Amino acid sequence: MPHRFPERTARPRRYLMCRPTYFTVEYAINPWMDPSRPTDTTLAVRQWERLCALYEELGHTVELIDPVPGLPDMVYTANGATVLDGRVLVATFRHAERAAESEAHESWFRSGGYREVRRAAHVNEGEGDHLLVGRRVLAGSGFRTSPAAHTETRDVFGLQVLGLDLVDPRFYHLDTALAVLADDQIMYYPAAFTPDSQALLRSLYPDAILAEREDAEVFGLNAVSDGRRVLLPEAAKSLAARLADAGYEPIPVDLSELFKGGGGPKCCTLELRPA
Ligand code: ARG
Repeated sequence: MPHRFPERTARPRRYLMCRPTYFTVEYAINPWMDPSRPTDTTLAVRQWERLCALYEELGHTVELIDPVPGLPDMVYTANGATVLDGRVLVATFRHAERAAESEAHESWFRSGGYREVRRAAHVNEGEGDHLLVGRRVLAGSGFRTSPAAHTETRDVFGLQVLGLDLVDPRFYHLDTALAVLADDQIMYYPAAFTPDSQALLRSLYPDAILAEREDAEVFGLNAVSDGRRVLLPEAAKSLAARLADAGYEPIPVDLSELFKGGGGPKCCTLELRPA
């Protein structure tokens, strides 16, 4: 029988990660965070180390930025910058609690030989809200990144940037509601977007995988794909089955501690794209 989908091919990736040495939930800036609920930093570190090891087993390269005491959310490196073609647009955070992460990222990139490193002029939470699909950037706004930041992203990288409006506070970053699977395919949770943004996504990606509420609520869309293997929270069972049906190889990961901060595998992973 002929395949219903093209052969999925993996491409080796380079990721920036940050050990959750100082991870805890001591403030609440998204609906998942509850400072009265205890966190287990040792377990968070162990789960994060497993994620790192998985990337390496899959042939990817992991680079590390040092964690900074007092910045418990620094483990979510996806928010630190957007890196395309060796150019770096360092994040400017919405909340004061995370503001100092920009400095840490900026100095990491400045010493890393990138051809251009600049700080975003507007609120811009990096890859949390900017996802590259082929040569097009999908950019979220509504809760964190400001729409003005999308224009800056377009000017800095010279790529098409399409704005998408988020409406559900539980899906406050684009990467909690949409994941890039391959250069021409995505999966997303429609109800996280305004009707106009849903229509735009439908017309651009008619073959996208649409997630159900149950999978979205366990952060199933906070997934990392290398084009073939897709790492996603293990609780997103039916989404994993749908990915397998579409020719991908789902790899379940347990990041239950980091979920308490409102993040999953993608939040802990910033893709570095050298020139
Ligand atoms: N506690 C962090 C915040 O609210 C979680 C960030 C999750 N990162 C992401 N890329 N969605 O900012």
